[in-house]
Amino acid sequence: MSDQQIANQLYFGDCLEIMAEFVSDESVDLIYLDPPFNSKRIYNAFIGGAQWVAFDDTWRWYEAIDDFHEVAGDVSVAPTMEGLRKILGESGELAYLSYMANRLRECRRVLKPTGSIYLHCDPTMSYFLRIVMDAVFGKKNFKNEIIWHYRKWPTGKYTFQRNHDVLLFYSRSGSRKRRFNQLFMPRTESTLKRFGKKRIVSGHDEAGQRLPSQTAEEESEGVRMDDVWDISRVPPIKQLYPTEKPLPLLERIISASSNPDDLVLDPFCGCGTTIHAAQNLDRRWIGIDICVNACKVIQKRIEGHFDSLWDNIEFVGMPKTLDDAKVLADYDPFKFERWAASLVPGVEANKRQRRDKGIDGRGRLPIRKGQFVDVVVQVKSGSANPSHVQAFNEARRQGQAQLGIFTCFENRVTDGMRNAAVNAGKYLDEWPVIQIYTIEDFFERRLPDLPLADFRLP
Ligand SMILES: C[S@@+](CC[C@H](N)C(=O)[O-])C[C@H]1O[C@@H](n2cnc3c(N)ncnc32)[C@H](O)[C@@H]1O
Repeated sequence: MSDQQIANQLYFGDCLEIMAEFVSDESVDLIYLDPPFNSKRIYNAFIGGAQWVAFDDTWRWYEAIDDFHEVAGDVSVAPTMEGLRKILGESGELAYLSYMANRLRECRRVLKPTGSIYLHCDPTMSYFLRIVMDAVFGKKNFKNEIIWHYRKWPTGKYTFQRNHDVLLFYSRSGSRKRRFNQLFMPRTESTLKRFGKKRIVSGHDEAGQRLPSQTAEEESEGVRMDDVWDISRVPPIKQLYPTEKPLPLLERIISASSNPDDLVLDPFCGCGTTIHAAQNLDRRWIGIDICVNACKVIQKRIEGHFDSLWDNIEFVGMPKTLDDAKVLADYDPFKFERWAASLVPGVEANKRQRRDKGIDGRGRLPIRKGQFVDVVVQVKSGSANPSHVQAFNEARRQGQAQLGIFTCFENRVTDGMRNAAVNAGKYLDEWPVIQIYTIEDFFERRLPDLPLADFRLP
């Protein structure tokens, strides 16, 4: 597909697979990505009164072994990853960096030679990510380390308050045609006092001595914007999503590094801030997220801000009907499992579906103030029997979750399976330890019996 044909598109799925399947080489003008930071946190969102896990930002080595091996085949990146293995060992950090390196390689493939990429991270991993970005995009293409500074309520003691994120800005190549629209910021008080708004002309004489500054006739737009940006965070109470970034931050990046009608890609788009900013600035966009609930929030956001836009968006990967779900289960059982594992509010599908020890998704729900239950999900796209339910109960026990949801199609459920679920008993005499939840339940808007407080389906 030529770049000019690409309209606005939202994808549900792993950006690695989505980019490989749907985004052609050198078709994108600007990429902004705000991936998980390896913060070792589970991010929860409160929507409709209930808490559900938006995503789990903890990393285990076994989850990213495949990424490490895939990256090992890339001669420009492999030596860096080998070096990182020596420094970090086969750790959660290396898992995270392998996962990122593999996805950044796809970003490199889809970016036009005139394109730019901004990787949003925080000081937890920014120093290692810079090394990985150098390997993927080339050290000479590094443009800026932008510090996004914000204020938040003080936390912790005995350190300075941590109040910034880092944006690593690289170009795809050294092309002179690279988009960069100069942005300006206001002059300081002292410059204004001395020169007013006139443009300042300065230079050097033939001996290299600096000439005194003068002013030209026309007015200046301010001074060239620097690399420390003060922009307020979205206050937690107003957030649509736990890691939501402010719209002005994205508008600034998009204004600087793209022009109207250019194509902007956000492979980890969360609640769609990039999409919102791109739409405001008349850019075309592609958004990808692996979380069912993030895609639902994006849909609401678009419907709330842009009349009839949602109807013209290509939304790929998420079955909208029972028949779609059946087709997906036949055509791509892994994708089906990922989708079905996150149908239960509060549950997120595994990052990797292999070596999953019988668990396809996991989440945490509040039962009372400060007290939570862990919920695990197993999905069967094909046939199932009572021994599968029993084995899942054992996996739940080993995974230290209190509740388990076994998800499959209605026509796969037998009386024996229902009995096996009932035999698993109840947690706190209230919630079934094992429940069978069907795809039909989901489409008929029935929820499993879980501590969901006053959760309402979006
Ligand atoms: C830090 S949040 C992005 C927040 C976003 N910038 C915003 O303003 O809402 C990271 C997002 O990446 C998603 N994600 C994690 N791994 C992913 C993957 N492999 N492919 C696509 N999305 C992924 C998570 O579901 C989460 O929504």
